[in-house]
Amino acid sequence: MTRSKGCFITLEGVDGAGKSTHIPWLIQTLKDQGLPVVSTREPGGTAVGEQLRQLLLHQPMHLKTETLLMFAARCEHVETVIRPALEAGNWVVCDRFTDATYAYQGGGRELGGAAVQALQDWVHPDLQPDRTWLFDVPLQVARERLASSREPDRFERESRDFFLRTQAAYHERVRNQPDRFLVIDASQTIVAIRKQLEADLLELINRAGGAQAAGNLSEHG
Ligand code: TMP
Repeated sequence: MTRSKGCFITLEGVDGAGKSTHIPWLIQTLKDQGLPVVSTREPGGTAVGEQLRQLLLHQPMHLKTETLLMFAARCEHVETVIRPALEAGNWVVCDRFTDATYAYQGGGRELGGAAVQALQDWVHPDLQPDRTWLFDVPLQVARERLASSREPDRFERESRDFFLRTQAAYHERVRNQPDRFLVIDASQTIVAIRKQLEADLLELINRAGGAQAAGNLSEHG
């Protein structure tokens, strides 16, 4: 896929890692630089995807069904939202993408990576995030954060071992594609995390050719 501009950023991490806290800031920061932004999430991001999300988060189902539905939602999302937005030059910020399937279904639920890879090769062989921010926290911290949040969904109720496997699968993704990932120690303060994110954003904007915007960001950051 040829893209002249735009950038695809995804945010990942186990439940309770705190990634969602930073999304409004990220969107606003990009907008402040005059960059066109599309903010979306998985599973979800389309009418079909949001309906599938309700099923996926609340309805028990076979692991293969779960994995196929994740990719069904993703297919609709890639074809009708992500790809058109990138081709139009937008910055696309997506709360989770295919790394989450490798981590949760492949690792957490022990499906393994091969089936996920096969579905990725079918659904989006030519599309990868330009940058993935992995919010990494000790499991104990993630679980404490989760315990103090809303009613847990089907994934959030999973065991400690499930989350350890999920986290290990995320780490394996990082080892296999170190250039795409930025791993953030999400047990730091929000201010310290923002500093790290801002520096990375500056680099991404520069790389995308937005030198002037990046200059503004560093002046105000
Ligand atoms: P969220 O709470 O971060 O919006 O994510 C919803 C849940 O869906 C989260 O527990 C992770 C899970 N999930 C998967 O298991 N596989 C996937 O491919 C995606 C995108 C999410």
